[in-house]
Amino acid sequence: MKNKKILLAVCGSIAFYKAFEILSMLKKEGADVYVMLSDGALKFCSSLGFEALSDHPILTSQSENWQAGLNHINYAKMDLILIAPASVNTINKLANGICDNVFMQTLIASNAPILIAPAANTKMIEHFSTKNSFEFLKSNGVKFIDPIEKTLACKDFGKGALADAETIIYEVKKSLNEPKFEGKKVIITGGATIEKIDDARAITNFSSGKMAKALADEFYFASADVTLIASFETNKTPYQTIKFQTSQELKSAIDENLQNAYMLVMSAAVSDYIPKEKFTGKLKKESLGSNWGLNLRQNIDILGSLKEFKNVKKIGFKMEMDAKNALTNAKNMLKNKNLDAVCLNVLDDEVKFGSDVSKICFITASETKEITLNSKQNIAREILNLAYNL
Ligand SMILES: Cc1cc2nc3c(=O)[nH]c(=O)nc-3n(C[C@H](O)[C@H](O)[C@H](O)COP(=O)(O)O)c2cc1C
Repeated sequence: MKNKKILLAVCGSIAFYKAFEILSMLKKEGADVYVMLSDGALKFCSSLGFEALSDHPILTSQSENWQAGLNHINYAKMDLILIAPASVNTINKLANGICDNVFMQTLIASNAPILIAPAANTKMIEHFSTKNSFEFLKSNGVKFIDPIEKTLACKDFGKGALADAETIIYEVKKSLNEPKFEGKKVIITGGATIEKIDDARAITNFSSGKMAKALADEFYFASADVTLIASFETNKTPYQTIKFQTSQELKSAIDENLQNAYMLVMSAAVSDYIPKEKFTGKLKKESLGSNWGLNLRQNIDILGSLKEFKNVKKIGFKMEMDAKNALTNAKNMLKNKNLDAVCLNVLDDEVKFGSDVSKICFITASETKEITLNSKQNIAREILNLAYNL
């Protein structure tokens, strides 16, 4: 979103106050945000709060000023227009090309992509005129962010509340991104497997899943049909998520979703060894004695077991601590498991378990590309770009 010019167009809805949060979040993401308030919005609030948050003057019917550049032509030159909250009145006006004030003129004077987050009473949303407008606007490339179903400000229960700010930010990023993976199903796995020893203890590892989450987000922004299979909490993600704990659950989730998949990005950290048997209850030291050995067996090799899925592009992750042999080990993995790429991650003083930064070697049969130390989000974006060329 860095330096992208976004016009936040706010309508006369009781959800107007949520636009402050959306504005702040867009700015935090690096966007250059302009704000325009409708005549309806001006009945709910003044420009002042938005002036305090925005780096640009607020365009309204009252502030329109051609000498100062506050006009529908200047404010139409954007990378994206986000109407949030969007009133039914504005949606229906837009669908009918009505430009009877500076707010509507700006929307219609722009050829920027339009993203609409409606908020209104369910009956207003479901009215035939609004439904027609939705269909017509969609058929002309306008994207919508569905309102949420809950008890609305008017006390009616139904679909009509403005989508969460987090969801809106996801959709803004998606709209600004190249749809490199449009229509492609991408499965991403992440986090650590947890294998029970008894009902109180487990064998696991320190994988945080941050890289997987960053990858799932980036693939979503690139319009992929994302399924994230994760052992960690995945709140408020706009794509499908499946929770796993054990290696077996992870494998089953992959097997169930791999049909028709275009790509599998396997960044989950799977235990190499798991307990041979799981004890019920809690093992007691009194009965185990002063020395006790846990019986382990080698775990299933999930990625290695998927060789027959030749149509699915597969990217493996390899974490190494032995820098000397890391590259050779990763290249062996690429070959032995029939992968399209391996992301090699060598832990050192800069890159540790759970950190927000990483560095990766992206290895394919023909080349090895270094992605230098960067945030996991930026690394994920680079991996996506390299994965695009596989
Ligand atoms: C208290 C109150 C709350 C309203 N909330 C909404 C709303 O959430 N969504 C909506 O579409 N209209 C809502 N309206 C009606 C709009 O404000 C009205 O249609 C207005 O003309 C919209 O103007 P605009 O499209 O210029 O913003 C509300 C009206 C009032 C008085």
